[in-house]
Amino acid sequence: MQKEVVLSGIRSTGFLHLGNYFGAMRNYVRMQDDFDCYFFVADWHALTTHPDTKELRNSVLRVLAENIACGLDPEKACLYVQSHVPEIAELYMLLNMLAYKGELEKTTTFKDKVRLQPQNVNAGLLTYPVLMAADILVHRAFKVPVGKDQEQHLEMARNFAQRFNHRYGDVFPEPVAFNFGESLVKVPSLDGAGKMSKSENQMATLYLADDDELIRKKVMKAKSDSGPTEPNSDKPDYIENLFQLMRLVSKKETVDQFEADYNNCTIRYGDMKKQMAEDMVAFIAPIREKAAAIYADEKYLAEVMQTGAEKARKSAGATLALVREHMGLKYF
Ligand code: TRP
Repeated sequence: MQKEVVLSGIRSTGFLHLGNYFGAMRNYVRMQDDFDCYFFVADWHALTTHPDTKELRNSVLRVLAENIACGLDPEKACLYVQSHVPEIAELYMLLNMLAYKGELEKTTTFKDKVRLQPQNVNAGLLTYPVLMAADILVHRAFKVPVGKDQEQHLEMARNFAQRFNHRYGDVFPEPVAFNFGESLVKVPSLDGAGKMSKSENQMATLYLADDDELIRKKVMKAKSDSGPTEPNSDKPDYIENLFQLMRLVSKKETVDQFEADYNNCTIRYGDMKKQMAEDMVAFIAPIREKAAAIYADEKYLAEVMQTGAEKARKSAGATLALVREHMGLKYF
């Protein structure tokens, strides 16, 4: 039986953090065996907000290395760079004729970007959702693992697919958001406010590239207090967050012990954070070291990109042939 096509794009701006790992990467790794997976680095998308390309190559290679270090396997999934697949640009151009200025201007991320970079409201920013739709539809992907912030884009991709199918005949499945239900873990930030994220407080986010000392420093600075005074009391949010983080990387017995200490008011957050810091280091260090080794191996990365591009172009080429045919763009 043919496997369903799963596809997701990875931003090339910024370093991967623990939130990306547990929120996205880990799921991708699990999907590799059961689906026909396409994962790519969205370097064209980066140009909509980062016109300066001095760092682009480094970022692309780093993101690839980090993703492979986290368990993405180029032998199992098709791993490629967006700009190596010109078919995406062709489909993007064609889909632009089916996308309306009004709906693009109403997109939440577009409105956010207009506020953030009023000096560079370029057409690429406006048509960001069309490019993303092209990314997905070019492989006729059905399942797209994305976070909440991308759901509107995905809905637009469905609309473009539907419009195309309606006007020119059935070519595209309508892509849906896809996640392993229970495994959508939230990774709280270390300062007790919100989730770990690239843009917020850097000291409250653990990056997979952080060195051991920095990890320890960040964890030790996490928000806590002098401990509960009533047995079995509810935990304040920032303490619950610490436990939640600990559950991600520490042994169950360790967490259970601190839970018990909390409930009988003997907990010492200094000790808890020390333990968590060591468990974080044990978790992150091997990934960091593996990513660094892969990043240094340019020959290997070039091979990965080349093999990925070939496979992606084969699938994309087949879709574009269908698209041209359905649109009546086949003249001989
Ligand atoms: N827009 C996505 C993000 O910001 C990245 C992305 C680009 C993507 N193309 C995609 C995600 C296609 C899923 C499918 O995270």
